[in-house]
Amino acid sequence: MKLAIGNDHAAVELKNIVMAHLEERGIELVNVGTDTTESFDYPISGYRVGKLVASGEVDGGVLICGTGVGISLAANKVEGVRACVCSEPYSAALSKRHNNTNVICFGARVVGDEMAKLIVDSWLDATYEGGRHDRRVAMLNEIDRTGSLAVADA
Ligand code: RB5
Repeated sequence: MKLAIGNDHAAVELKNIVMAHLEERGIELVNVGTDTTESFDYPISGYRVGKLVASGEVDGGVLICGTGVGISLAANKVEGVRACVCSEPYSAALSKRHNNTNVICFGARVVGDEMAKLIVDSWLDATYEGGRHDRRVAMLNEIDRTGSLAVADA
């Protein structure tokens, strides 16, 4: 498995911890974030990871900023990305099982090192369930692709 990972200046230390953890799991990583604590605009990392995920060059993405919010918003602007902020493992797993998220985000100022590892593990170990969720995920994709949702406009 290959994942893209990105961050801003608020999340360099946690990014390194999460990278080491993912590498221990045998995951190949593409690091597109900053490796210094100098101010770095989170949309850059969110966009870079989003593009790699949407193009299929990687199997998914991990994004970390101060809260996880800004960087998730940036990633979600890229067509084909379903990114969400999770501060605990339950939502991370359900985001994959029900929403088929392809990018997981969290905040270095919100979660600790061990919680971050639990969040990525729960997300990676979960599988999209399909079935009734397909219709809803297709709606998300329709909004993403066309800027509208036919069933809601009717
Ligand atoms: C940087 O100070 C901070 O705004 C950023 O890391 C993130 O929390 C934004 O959503």
